[in-house]
Amino acid sequence: MPKFRLFLLLYTLITAPAWADDGYRLWLKFDLIEDAALRQKYLSQVPTIASTSTHPTVQIAVEELRQGLGTLLGKPVAVKPALGANEKGISFKLNPTESGISEEGFKLQTVGGTLQLIAQTERGLLYAAYELLRRVQTGTSLEKLSVTSSPRIQLRLLNHWDNHVGTIERGYAGMSLWKWYELPERLDPRYTEYARANAAIGINGTVVNNVNASARFLTDEYLQKVKALADVFRPYGIKVYLSVNFASPRILGKLKTADPLDPDVRAWWKQKAADVYTLIPDFGGFLVKANSEGEPGPMDYGRTHVDGANVLAEAVKPHGGIIMWRSFVYEPDPKGDRFKAAYDEFKPLDGKFHDNVIIQVKNGPIDFMPREPFSPLFGAMTQTPVSMEFQLTQEYLGWATHWVYQAPLFEEVLSADTHAKGPGSTVAKVLDGSVYKYPITSMVGVANTGSDRNWTGHPMAQANWYALGRMAWEPTLASEQIADEWVKMSLTRKPQAVATIKNIMLKSREIYVDYTSPLGLHHLMGEGHHFGPEPWLNKARRPDWTAVYYHRADSLGLGFDRTARGSNALSQYAPPVQQQFENPATCPLPYLLWFHHVPWTQKLSTGRTLWNELVHRFYSGAEQVKWMQNEWNKVKKDVDSEIFANVAGRLLTQEKEALWWRDACVLYFQEYARQPLPAPYQKPNRTLEEVKNLVDIYHLR
Ligand code: GCU
Repeated sequence: MPKFRLFLLLYTLITAPAWADDGYRLWLKFDLIEDAALRQKYLSQVPTIASTSTHPTVQIAVEELRQGLGTLLGKPVAVKPALGANEKGISFKLNPTESGISEEGFKLQTVGGTLQLIAQTERGLLYAAYELLRRVQTGTSLEKLSVTSSPRIQLRLLNHWDNHVGTIERGYAGMSLWKWYELPERLDPRYTEYARANAAIGINGTVVNNVNASARFLTDEYLQKVKALADVFRPYGIKVYLSVNFASPRILGKLKTADPLDPDVRAWWKQKAADVYTLIPDFGGFLVKANSEGEPGPMDYGRTHVDGANVLAEAVKPHGGIIMWRSFVYEPDPKGDRFKAAYDEFKPLDGKFHDNVIIQVKNGPIDFMPREPFSPLFGAMTQTPVSMEFQLTQEYLGWATHWVYQAPLFEEVLSADTHAKGPGSTVAKVLDGSVYKYPITSMVGVANTGSDRNWTGHPMAQANWYALGRMAWEPTLASEQIADEWVKMSLTRKPQAVATIKNIMLKSREIYVDYTSPLGLHHLMGEGHHFGPEPWLNKARRPDWTAVYYHRADSLGLGFDRTARGSNALSQYAPPVQQQFENPATCPLPYLLWFHHVPWTQKLSTGRTLWNELVHRFYSGAEQVKWMQNEWNKVKKDVDSEIFANVAGRLLTQEKEALWWRDACVLYFQEYARQPLPAPYQKPNRTLEEVKNLVDIYHLR
């Protein structure tokens, strides 16, 4: 080979990354730290790991540190039984009575030359190891460490809406991660990767199947498969839970009824629970969607949610299990207000559930809209614990083509003040039990994972999974900090690129809200599939599945009056919250149309009329997607080329779809507002009819 070509080949081999990054490694990407001085500094602090533990969880911690630090620092890190007298390195201390931390908490302390990982349990040590890795990945100093950290929420869970046939309800990243047909014999290596990724962000439980649950998951055949998963997840501190079909005693047990007060039904659940725990001794418990959207439940037999939940609770109680009973229930009532359904149903039942029941509440009163006020059940349940259900999968957030960093949404809800016990009773404090001393605390995210190589379809959606774990551990963590960590761990450590990407992330959700549902509009999406705009939808199987039910556009104005003059849903909140929302002048603009029917000509605090403000938001929101593209282009040289191209392509689709939303909503609402578009905005270059036909082009009908 001619010398020059040889040189070129060698040069390419040396300078090119070892492989293109397909996003598979998530935040566990331990690539070499570029800054040699920083590497040197870390190497001098943690050149060695000392451990003799044979516990599988500690062995994982040691191995993660050995491998992670090894590649981050570009030099193998030795593992030995003990550190010598003045030797520097990492050591583990397991102390069941360590003060100042909870069971899963940890300390990271510099003691002399040693960096000590201290915890009451092996799980705590594993979390400490991941925290240490995070610090090195993000370039944080290890100097004189004195970190104490305990999770504020006990149960930090993913909920998979995965079906036994491999599909995922509302999943946009491929098929299910769980290969039921291969289990229990073959264990896909990805199960371990899943466990690692979750443990690294503090997630300690997973509900592996859809809330619209097939009874099949409780058959002996499927329980063997679930056991196989539980065995993989256990050393990572992750418990397995199942969604159950309330009619299982009838479907599987061949009983005549599933009436929770029937003695045979009770006995059936007890026996089933015993069977589950024989196979999986640390099984977490059951999640139940009952009497909601056609699912069976206790009301089918004239019983209540309490009757239903308590029978299951009794069955799992002797084994230490819990029941997560969902509050997502709503009867079709054309004159009613779906907003009020969950509160009306559950508030009167407060205190009647067994102590191993927790009510799982979606963040808002309707259904994971791009923006919702917090559910009035937060703060209202004084004796029965409630848990938070966020949705990571982007059912209403543009599926896997729109870049929406959800941490600001989580933060907005968690920091909202319920005023339940005076000012400062934030949703976060309700959840962590500091307002009402709940015996169980929990936060869950409906998973956005699937079989796509990068797990989440949109590479940037990984950040939402990451954020859920971090916020469930510490609900007051700022979205900005979480974004900072995630970008540095998953994409790039170049300061300018980090700043640029973070900026896009932090603005992305508001941009999405602006071009799809500004000023508190909600439920304008396509019927059934929930993609794209369909504000004209006025007929569906249920009135509260249409769009007109929610936006109530007429010749006078727009929005749902939920004040005392309207549905009075506001009465479900504590008086200070009510007062703030009740007056259109003090109601924050993002929530305006959630609570008020506002005249088109009404001047808002921005100085624009409602119509003009609406048009401005739809247009500037769609315009901002171009800004996202421009900003993303700036980081081209600093992120992996495969990830760069993937995101750039999706941003082009996002732009097209943002214009779709803009044109659909502006043209449709204009028929009611009967006003021209304010300057400088130009009329869309297509008609409303043409936009309506786009649904077919997208093959959504
Ligand atoms: C939404 C979603 C359904 C899901 C339901 C639930 O309505 O569209 O697919 O089953 O929420 O949370 O139970």
